[in-house]
Parts: sequence; structure tokens; C-alpha cells
Amino acid sequence: MPELDMTVTLAGVTLKNPVVVASGTFGFGREYGQFYDLSELGGICAKGLTLHRREGNPTPRIAETPMGILNSVGLQNPGVDAFIKEELPFLRQFDTKIIANISGNTPEEYGIMCEKLADAGVDLIEVNISCPNVKAGGMAYGTRPDLAAEVTAEAKRHAGRTPVMVKLSPNVTDITVIARAAADAGADALSLINTIRGMRIDVNSHRPVLKMNTGGLSGPAVLPVAVRMVWEVCQAVDLPVLGMGGVAKGEDAAQLMLAGASAVAVGTAMFADPYAPLHVRDGLADLARRQGLDAVAQLTGGVKPW
Ligand SMILES: Cc1cc2nc3c(=O)[nH]c(=O)nc-3n(C[C@H](O)[C@H](O)[C@H](O)COP(=O)(O)O)c2cc1C
Repeated sequence: MPELDMTVTLAGVTLKNPVVVASGTFGFGREYGQFYDLSELGGICAKGLTLHRREGNPTPRIAETPMGILNSVGLQNPGVDAFIKEELPFLRQFDTKIIANISGNTPEEYGIMCEKLADAGVDLIEVNISCPNVKAGGMAYGTRPDLAAEVTAEAKRHAGRTPVMVKLSPNVTDITVIARAAADAGADALSLINTIRGMRIDVNSHRPVLKMNTGGLSGPAVLPVAVRMVWEVCQAVDLPVLGMGGVAKGEDAAQLMLAGASAVAVGTAMFADPYAPLHVRDGLADLARRQGLDAVAQLTGGVKPW
């Protein structure tokens, strides 16, 4: 039997396999690097960066839910310069693609970060316009097409030849409106979904469980929403998509690829099983072999709607 080709391309970047780890769920890789060789991964999306260091939101900021978690971490990170100086050299030791994830308070901040990261040689820049856990910027950019376009254009202007992938929010009425705005403004790829806003209340104290009152829902509960949104976006725009939201096994990844994603990211599943991305990769390969494919990329867009 011929060997299965596991490579995929995302905005012109070749990944050795379609499984990436999702931003904010893998830190900068040091902890997970104690479990396995990070070169096994298709790519690493680093923790979300801001121009200046951030402490994040007050605790408690993570809570379990049926089939998922709620988080309101709020982009705790050391700032883009510290990432480039202290974390990127560590990540660069591995034979995998490095994706930097950025959030700004203004379009200009996105531009400054893009320039720094492109100069530092990251493989892709993921522009987060969808963080539900920060007051400024973040989500506002992801819910208004005019602002999404402005941030995308500014990122593209400063990213040089480094591809720009815009990360979309599911917290909108019609995600294709934002997808089209980012595409028209020059995005090279789209990633989706970020977390879905949610809330949990402690019935004894009558207090919200999270100190920020609300947070973002992720994990298996959100997979069907992610599959639906990837499918809608892939019909609306002609851009490669990194699909994510609730992926925990090969079949989950295959659903996102059939809906149109070129690659997938695994996030929350790693909190229960650090090896989840490797299991997803192997499960996806088994599924592709069972279906007689020569290349896993043949799954992309293969859904047959009724
Ligand atoms: C604790 C936590 C922190 C996150 N931080 C970021 C972040 O910094 N930037 C970002 O774009 N997305 C962030 N996300 C969203 C994930 O990258 C991903 O889009 C989402 O969790 C859905 O995937 P999952 O269900 O596999 O976790 C975070 C998610 C979690 C659970």
C-alpha cells in the first residue's frame, strides 16, 4: 500500500501533518515538550501576544462545564519582545511551523507586532480579533466587519511576506460577513472558532463561578458549532481555513476538514490528555487509510450536503 501523504498547505506554508496546537492552550511549548518531541506537530500556535506584557484577568478564571471548559484568562503573556527574545529561539529548535498569535488595542498595535514577528521569522501570524475575555479591542474587531477589515489591512501592510491568518469569533450573527471583510482586506487564511461566550453560576453563593462573570466556552461541546461555521465560511470565501473547536480525536478533525478546513487545531483536549494532538493525527491517518485516500488533504471540502 502506498504511504499516506500527511502534508497539507495553509496560506502557502507546508505543514508535515494537519494537526496544530491551538493558541493559549499550549503556552510556548516548554511544558508539553517534556512529554514528546514537538517536531511531531504540524504546527504550534503560541500563546496570544500583546504589544506589552499582560497579567491577565483575576482568578478564578477557568471552570469546568459539561463537555468543556469556560475560561477568562485574558491574554496573560510576557509581551511580543520577550516572546521573540526568550521563547521563539526555544520553539525554533523543533522541525515544525511556528504561528504567532497577536491581539491589539488598536490597528496600529497589530501592525507593530506584525512587523516585529515577521522580522523575527515566524512562519505565520494569526491575528486574533476574537478574544471574548478582554475589554479593549479583541472581540470588538471580530464582530464588526469594518473594524475586522481595518485590522486585517494594517496587519498585511506590516507583515511583509509572512502570511496573515485572521482568527474569527463565533460570537456573531453571521460569521461569513466577517470572513468576507477579512478576505477582501487581504487575509491569506482564516482560523475559527475562538471560544463561545458563556457563564456559570454557583447556586449556593449566587456568584458567577468566574471572577470576570463570563468566559469563553471551548472543548467537545463546541465542535458542532465549529463544523457548521467552517462549512459556512468555506462556502463564502476562497481562503484556506484552520478549523478548531472541540477537536479531541481523528474523527473530529476529519469533520472539520470535510467541512472545508485545510488543517485543524487541538486546544482544550490537551488539558485532559497532553498527547491529544498526536492521537488526533494518528486517528486522522487511520481514517484516511480506511477510506483509501493517498493524501489526507483529499478530505478537505469533501462533505456531500444533502
Ligand atoms: C485557556 C484558553 C486560553 C486561550 N487563549 C487564547 C489566546 O491567547 N488567543 C487565541 O486566539 N485563542 C485563545 N484560546 C482559544 C483557542 O485557541 C481555541 O480557539 C478554542 O479554545 C477552541 O478550541 P478547543 O475547543 O480545541 O479548545 C484559548 C482557549 C483556552 C481554553
